[in-house]
Amino acid sequence: MDQQSTPLFQVLQQFTQHNPVSFHVPGHKNGAVFPEKASGYYNAVLKMDMTELTGLDDLHAPEGPIADAERLAASYFQSAHTYFLVGGSTAGNLAMIMATCSRGDKVIVQRNSHKSIMNGLELRGANPIFISPAYEESVGRFTNPEQDTLQEALNRHPDAKAVVLTYPDYFGGTFPLKEMIDLAHYYDIPVLVDEAHGVHFSLGEPFPASAISLGADVVVQSAHKMAPAMTMASFLHHNSSMVSRERISHYLQLLQSSSPSYPLMASLDIARAFLATMSADKMEAVMKSVKEVKNLFEDSENWSIIPAEDPLKITLHVKHSAKEVAGLFEEQHIFPELQTEKQILFIHGLAPFRRLETLKKAIKTVNEQLKNRQRHDTIDIVPFLTGLESITELAIPYTKMDQLETRHVPITEAVGRIAAEAVIPYPPGIPLILKGERIKEKQLEHITQLQRNGVRLQQRDPKRIAVFRGSAEGAE
Ligand SMILES: Cc1ncc(COP(=O)(O)O)c(C=O)c1O
Repeated sequence: MDQQSTPLFQVLQQFTQHNPVSFHVPGHKNGAVFPEKASGYYNAVLKMDMTELTGLDDLHAPEGPIADAERLAASYFQSAHTYFLVGGSTAGNLAMIMATCSRGDKVIVQRNSHKSIMNGLELRGANPIFISPAYEESVGRFTNPEQDTLQEALNRHPDAKAVVLTYPDYFGGTFPLKEMIDLAHYYDIPVLVDEAHGVHFSLGEPFPASAISLGADVVVQSAHKMAPAMTMASFLHHNSSMVSRERISHYLQLLQSSSPSYPLMASLDIARAFLATMSADKMEAVMKSVKEVKNLFEDSENWSIIPAEDPLKITLHVKHSAKEVAGLFEEQHIFPELQTEKQILFIHGLAPFRRLETLKKAIKTVNEQLKNRQRHDTIDIVPFLTGLESITELAIPYTKMDQLETRHVPITEAVGRIAAEAVIPYPPGIPLILKGERIKEKQLEHITQLQRNGVRLQQRDPKRIAVFRGSAEGAE
């Protein structure tokens, strides 16, 4: 197949060349009805922002250019079928879970999964068996579950309908995924992988192997995170005789818009062609640039660089508060992806970085500003899963939660009660407390520390938490 071709993008391009007259949705009429102050920014994209017109195909029943574009993607990513997603990896994660299990089914799932995985389990009314990740001292983070933990979960629950893993993590960390997949397959259980941060692993060396190449059954990737695609544009790859493709299609059309964005879908076509035609020379130039950027950061008295399997992820372990240091970078108009308590993540793109001088100046300024500031070497955050057993279940199953009453209590009084809402710092979007989990003192300590360090929680009222009535261990 000609991986340089971009059939969906091309058909949109040709369509716009005829200066078509719009008597259809969307209401901006190819950009003709749009406020002037914004049209300069939007115009080129609005001309391509079409609907399901003759020749433009339909995402939910593709047989024209969208089908061609998805086939090209499947061929490049080595899947049996690839779906274009317009609702982010979120839509893909929901769909793969809905498609794989039924109400009450057991699903073995990594405890530090993204909230979209947890939301999929809740929507489905599945019965999650959580496997805890290991705590990696050298990077100061919870990473991935160990193989022994998965083995133990499979021994206890051989009737599970799926194993759900996240690979790589936000910081570009990977683990021996193939062994985990082989283990689950030995029990005839499909493996669903949230590879939201790993679309570029399809490029091969120097990146880690992709989940599809390691035998995963369904893989979801946010093309928009690491490849040149528009925000929300994502892929779902299906490669399994154990997971029904019809069910995946069914849930994707149920969960996604019936008016998917064409510029967004075409950007998936473009991103796939970009990855598929990346030459060795271009790759070498990217890696050279990564090295240059890392050299600029180089270990200073204020931070050190934490290594990761994905070379595009540059994480600084800072000796001050990470929020403070990230803030200083932002004052210099340098915006990192995220910061945790002690770490700041910078993501390099898939092309040479062109603004080395700007970065160099900013790093110098930040280092100078930090010279006279007090360090917070002693910020010692209690890791949020500390003390949790390696295999856990919810205290109340999702299927019962709707029947229970809830109330809000001050966070300080929540220990021992069962959470009726998740507590999620964003980014990275991994719940610290899960809906249906009995709240532990360590978790609350962790949350209080995070709040003190300015981490943003996705919570209506940061001082209170919803709990199920009557769920206190002892009397209410
Ligand atoms: C591990 C992981 N999975 C899934 C998602 C959701 O991806 P999207 O934003 O494409 O919906 C994210 C988003 O940050 C993520 O970090």
